[in-house]
Amino acid sequence: MRRFEGKVALITGGASGIGRATAVRLAGEGAAVAIADINDQAAAEACHRVEDAGGRALCIHADVTVAAACEEMAGAAAERFGRLDVLVTSAGVGAGGSVVEITEDEWDRVVDLDLKAVYLSSKAAIPRMRQAGGGAIVHVASIGGLRGRWGAASFSAAKGGVVNLTRCMALHHAREHIRVNCVCPGVIETPLTRRWLSDPETRARQVAAHPMGRLGRPEEVAAAIAFLAGDDASFITGAILTVDGGHVDLEAGRQPLDDGGQAGAVGFSRGQESQHAHLLSACSQAARMNGSASSQSPRLVHRSRARAPCRTSIPRPSIARAPDRRAWRRRRVSSGL
Ligand SMILES: NC(=O)c1ccc[n+]([C@@H]2O[C@H](COP(=O)([O-])OP(=O)(O)OC[C@H]3O[C@@H](n4cnc5c(N)ncnc54)[C@H](O)[C@@H]3O)[C@@H](O)[C@H]2O)c1
Repeated sequence: MRRFEGKVALITGGASGIGRATAVRLAGEGAAVAIADINDQAAAEACHRVEDAGGRALCIHADVTVAAACEEMAGAAAERFGRLDVLVTSAGVGAGGSVVEITEDEWDRVVDLDLKAVYLSSKAAIPRMRQAGGGAIVHVASIGGLRGRWGAASFSAAKGGVVNLTRCMALHHAREHIRVNCVCPGVIETPLTRRWLSDPETRARQVAAHPMGRLGRPEEVAAAIAFLAGDDASFITGAILTVDGGHVDLEAGRQPLDDGGQAGAVGFSRGQESQHAHLLSACSQAARMNGSASSQSPRLVHRSRARAPCRTSIPRPSIARAPDRRAWRRRRVSSGL
């Protein structure tokens, strides 16, 4: 597949990890690729990989936290290859610490790179995309931007900002034929996470947190970025695509409960029931609409381990009552569950 034949892509943080895998992927599909990074040696190696994959490559030294550097980077890519069609913002860091633990300087360092640089890179790229008649931008956020991540205040705040920036940019530039989407990776094995994951306990914990039972590869994120950046995603903008082996949306590290013909709200620990009383009451309402007998009333199903999840379940009509089944589904939808 050569989905990017004749296209020009600019990739920030393209010297390493997800950025480099994306550069190689897009080049393999026909793109000319500009790699912008502060690590010149790694960027030069990445450019060789791009050329090995059959693409034309340009190495740009750019600190993407600096507005003038972003402007120069976008100008250099467009000048060298004649246009700019794709921007991938992959330059970034991970960081730990609660708000009381991190210094103001640490906060600024993370937010400048993980959020402000995304704005600066986009601001520099968009005028060039307009000249090309449109384009596609893919930001690299994180699952940490979709929920509070324990001990990572600055990182979660910055990546959450990227998620909502994606939505705003998608709105603002849709009529200019510039699509803006973002990927939210789970834990991916890259130079960024290598040292952290070298601790066997940390690694085992992270593997267990991904329902697929393994960590991600940069090439897997690159494949999702290539999809969003290409014409296969021509009607997709403002999308937030998790690439995380089910980490965010599924019950991490646990066997799913046997549904046993039941449907309901999943994922609360013992002791949290009172916080979710509204769910129980909604389930009760649905069960009443379903005409369930009292023996089938909604209930919390606990699992045996202390921190195991439980399920608020609604009895579903049995197969033998097949005619009722469709009505049950209709009611369930209209009750908002
Ligand atoms: N690896 C993961 O598990 C993971 C998970 C979620 C999100 N992410 C995000 O994915 C993106 C890529 O991460 P990665 O794992 O590939 O990391 P990486 O360290 O392998 O690559 C990041 C690249 O960004 C470059 N960079 C750093 N500061 C820069 C600056 N000021 N200007 C230009 N380039 C700069 C680095 O030199 C490096 O080449 C980051 O935004 C990261 O937050 C990674």
